[in-house]
Amino acid sequence: MEKRNIIIFDTTLRDGEQSPGASLTTNEKLVIAHQLARLGVDVIEAGFPIASDGDFEAVKQVARNVKGPTICGLARANDGDIDRCWEAVKYSQKPRIHTFIATSKVHREKKLQKSKDEIIDLAVKAVKRAKGYCSDVEFSPEDAARTSLDYMCAVVKAAIAAGATTINIPDTVGYSEPEEFANRIHYLFEKVPEAKNVVVSVHCHNDLGNAVANSLAAVAAGATQVEGCINGIGERAGNASIEEIIMNLVTRNDYYNVNLNVNTKEIYKTSRLVSSLTGIDVQRNKAVVGVNAFAHEAGIHQHGVLKSKQTYEIMTPEDVGWTGENLVIGKHSGKHAVSALLEEEGFRLDKETITQITDRVKELADKEKSIERDDIIAIARDITHQLSEDEQFVKLEEFSVVTGSNMTPTASVKLRVNGEVKIAAGIGDGPVDAISNAIWQLVDPSLKLQDYHLKAITGGTDALADVSIKLSDEQFNMFVARAVDEDVIQASAKAIVKGINKALNYKEKILAQG
Ligand code: KIV
Ligand code: ZN
Repeated sequence: MEKRNIIIFDTTLRDGEQSPGASLTTNEKLVIAHQLARLGVDVIEAGFPIASDGDFEAVKQVARNVKGPTICGLARANDGDIDRCWEAVKYSQKPRIHTFIATSKVHREKKLQKSKDEIIDLAVKAVKRAKGYCSDVEFSPEDAARTSLDYMCAVVKAAIAAGATTINIPDTVGYSEPEEFANRIHYLFEKVPEAKNVVVSVHCHNDLGNAVANSLAAVAAGATQVEGCINGIGERAGNASIEEIIMNLVTRNDYYNVNLNVNTKEIYKTSRLVSSLTGIDVQRNKAVVGVNAFAHEAGIHQHGVLKSKQTYEIMTPEDVGWTGENLVIGKHSGKHAVSALLEEEGFRLDKETITQITDRVKELADKEKSIERDDIIAIARDITHQLSEDEQFVKLEEFSVVTGSNMTPTASVKLRVNGEVKIAAGIGDGPVDAISNAIWQLVDPSLKLQDYHLKAITGGTDALADVSIKLSDEQFNMFVARAVDEDVIQASAKAIVKGINKALNYKEKILAQG
């Protein structure tokens, strides 16, 4: 039988980033989007443009700069969302508008308070409006997996008639079982024969740990687009892990019989990059990209692997681009070496950013610091992690700290909050505590510092300080931020201010969504 082409739709930058702790700056999104293009995903969902000015800007920048994949933006089924989405994606050579409306009984009655017919009308109007802008329109009946089969089919039929070219069936709350989800896809093809003329997609969440299994069951049932996120990140238990889906389709091609455009050798880099920029660690034993995925520690396994790798390895580390870290940076290494090392880690950066990083590396080297791989990654992360001007509600203008033996550490800080200069002083148990207390006097008191970690990146008293903090808002959404500096106090103040900005950006996004 002829192989089917499967479209890989990556939503790391939209659904993945929707988990508060993962929020990314525009720069970081661009870096990830370039790497996704190298991985060879077919579609990048770059964000939700109406959600905030930051989201809009990120989608626009990705659309403008990232060549290869289709660039998609998300929009609810209303004119304002769709118009704003088009304004951002229109810069791509291959733009897509993805519009959605919830269809399950609980969403219809409790969230939307709309009748079945009203929802179909809104879906049709949304698809038609999107179609007025671009030919590539995706429609999703949100919470499809909990929608009655016949009503789901009625909505899909109407969306196809209105011009949708991709119909996405989401398991929004990760409720389905694999066989049941596959049956839903079979049912759709049976009751809506015109579905054969469009792309049928699936989008599964992982609340019961079934996201990958459900997605693959749907592919076996005839779906030709799969949505997911790198490392399976996303709200709650996350989205389907896109690298696991890819490696299932590749490793078990004998079973699925499909074609993919992906270069699997870019998987490991992409995973490391997303983990490094979101601050969300990959669990050691995670399938495909966990550090243990290819470690054969048990004696019996080692014995078998030494005789023939195939005894215990169904795919090789090389298949996913796990080559080991071999490039070493010396004190005199220039831009090329820095750029090559960062490429190994999935960072493909423009010349200006590489120059900025190399300058900081040289500054460090001049201070007699021996430079190690992790120093360079930390500096790159710090530079790409900068928030854009629009995203900086709070700026650290200056600070001073006085500390010593037999005295109470005291700090003073000058911040610019929404353009207004504010000054405060604080004391603390140590210098970091003192500066944190000073900053906290000037910002939203509902934000609370939940966690503070200080790591010396490489050995010695001259090590770079890598500070990561976690703060929460009144709804207990968590925001993670990191900063690197030779000065521990400066790194701490920078990380706290970044975290506050991330929380304020998220708040603005939620307010804009109403
Ligand atoms: O999970 C979901 O239903 C979504 C839709 C917007 C596709 O993310
Ligand atoms: Zn989702």
